[in-house]
Amino acid sequence: MGILFKNGIIVTASETIRADLLVEGEKIVQIGVDLLEQGHDVVDVSNKYLLPGGVDVHTHLALPTSGTISSDDFESGHIAAAFGGTTTHIDFASPEFGGTLEAALATWHAKADGKAMIDYGFHMTIREWNPALRAEIPMLVREGVTTLKVFTAYKGVLQMDDRDIFRAMTTAAEHGMLTMVHAENGDVIAELIARHLAKGNTSPYYHALSRPAILEGEATNRAIVMAGAANAPLYVVHMTCRDSLEALHRGREQGYPVMGETCAQYLFLTAQDHLRRSDAAKYVCSPPIRTLRDQDDLWCALRDGLLQVVSTDHCPFWYEGGANGRPPGKELGADDFSKIPNGLPVIEERLKVVWNAGVTGERIDMRRFVALNCTNPARIFGLYPQKGTLQVGSDADIVVWDADKSSVISARTHHMRTDYSIFEGMEITGGVQRVYRRGELLVEGDTWHGKPGSGRFIRRQPYAEVM
Ligand code: URP
Ligand code: ZN
Ligand code: ZN
Repeated sequence: MGILFKNGIIVTASETIRADLLVEGEKIVQIGVDLLEQGHDVVDVSNKYLLPGGVDVHTHLALPTSGTISSDDFESGHIAAAFGGTTTHIDFASPEFGGTLEAALATWHAKADGKAMIDYGFHMTIREWNPALRAEIPMLVREGVTTLKVFTAYKGVLQMDDRDIFRAMTTAAEHGMLTMVHAENGDVIAELIARHLAKGNTSPYYHALSRPAILEGEATNRAIVMAGAANAPLYVVHMTCRDSLEALHRGREQGYPVMGETCAQYLFLTAQDHLRRSDAAKYVCSPPIRTLRDQDDLWCALRDGLLQVVSTDHCPFWYEGGANGRPPGKELGADDFSKIPNGLPVIEERLKVVWNAGVTGERIDMRRFVALNCTNPARIFGLYPQKGTLQVGSDADIVVWDADKSSVISARTHHMRTDYSIFEGMEITGGVQRVYRRGELLVEGDTWHGKPGSGRFIRRQPYAEVM
């Protein structure tokens, strides 16, 4: 007996078709018109869209950082993700300085084991480069971890110099891995932070002034040129501004194997509006939120293909943490913007806000929406066609999407473990009705059906697509 979705409109990255879709066990087994109902559970999805489950390739669950830990773990984060229509994510395993990659991987597996409810993979963060780490790279590929992440920022913590980044991306390419980069000029940022603090400029707005767009553009360009010189595939995470988009455009024009993502928050928040408020710490992330002009440029890049993916960089903290069982949160930076834990709660809201402004707002069509949020991330990160599309043989990760559903985003009703929403009060048209992961119903309206431990680690394939 299977689950037969009747009369839906199936949306993939390449087409929109009215058809029935049959799931047996964990897989989609048939798509067609007027499929026989006999022996199946029939779900009437007339006037609803069937979308592939969202794939969020940039998250930080239970990440120790800045003297605290990000507040969603692999249980609360997965519930929130699924309520938002995301059924697969890739998180960053982060080694200790001097530690092995194997130990980091074991630590991240332990965070997810017994808790996970959606499917997940891991990237490996690299914060130093030496022969011992290099020797561990083949092990990562065997374990299904096919992406390395490097940083040109966070001086003294995660930043590597150009030679080591170049070495890491060269080795990654030799093993069919993709390098990801957080691109901001960490040296100049460190100096700007010190100058602002010395002048007594301690409020969150100076976070943005310490990390101007020009420094993101410079580091993005540098990383892209290095990728070109190494002929190594590169994916620039959380791109926020025209400066870095121009660098990506130049690199792609040169034929370099370089790609980029932006994150939902950069399409909606601005430094002018959100970092001058008394509760500005809520909106502190790196790179910082920018300007309306940058938002327009990001939408253009999403539409015309310069950017391939929308992710979230979900890295939530409490606004008022440090008491009542909450880990410390944004209050850590009350007297010093450089001590505010960097990151925002987004994993639950990506599909809603991008649909609302993108599809309802006529900036992108439905197929592009699916490409950016589901299919392209699966293709680039070695998950396709198991994930990211609706086709026979794919995992039955299915979102029943109601384009007429109205809602208002609020921390009172979201499922992320935070006391605020960056989208508080935003009115949304379009949203999730049901969510299935590998054929198992997780979300039905406001009701949660998932079971801890039912999410599965996905071993990803090397030599994934460069698009
Ligand atoms: O502010 C951010 N983005 N925090 C998460 C870590 C990172 O840099 O991606
Ligand atoms: Zn980053
Ligand atoms: Zn991140």
